[in-house]
Amino acid sequence: MLNWNELEQACLSCQKCPLAETRHKVAFGVGPRDAEVMLIGEGPGENEDLQGEPFVGRGGQLLDEMLEIIDLDRKTNVYIANIVKCRPPQNRDPLNTEQDACIGYLRNQVALIRPKIIVCLGRIAAMRVIKEDFKISREHGQWFERSGVHMMAMFHPAAILRDPRRRPDAFLDLKSLQAKIRQVCTHTY
Ligand code: URA
Repeated sequence: MLNWNELEQACLSCQKCPLAETRHKVAFGVGPRDAEVMLIGEGPGENEDLQGEPFVGRGGQLLDEMLEIIDLDRKTNVYIANIVKCRPPQNRDPLNTEQDACIGYLRNQVALIRPKIIVCLGRIAAMRVIKEDFKISREHGQWFERSGVHMMAMFHPAAILRDPRRRPDAFLDLKSLQAKIRQVCTHTY
């Protein structure tokens, strides 16, 4: 396991998969490194690739608004990272080979942060982190526990933007996250 400096340096200079050739910047992760709540997305889009930070585009703006409803903020109490740290061309889903090449970095981030709660944003992250056959439409908002870490998946912000009928479900999932934080976290609120 690498420390934060080693890990960030390794990510920023990574050449383990072909995404390294087309990326502008690596979106390593953002937020306090002692956060009790960690959010995991799929991979950088265009804005994230240009700025080197997860969830800074249109979906990121919605995510920030959603987090604000339950008093979460990437500057103070939630850490945000992705399954893959470099942008897949045309925003296609990251290939399994790309996820395999990159997942060690996320595992190292989780090992350093030791979050109490992990929230997967969308099906790609949920299938990687919670279980391989995760069905986002059926299983969003359900809690799972893996070696003492509470996990759930919510709809990806981009999916909510595509279909606003998902908003009420997203709100219920946020309230469930808020309740779980009150149960298991000691310094988030
Ligand atoms: N979508 C993701 O899954 N992650 C980002 O960082 C941006 C968009």
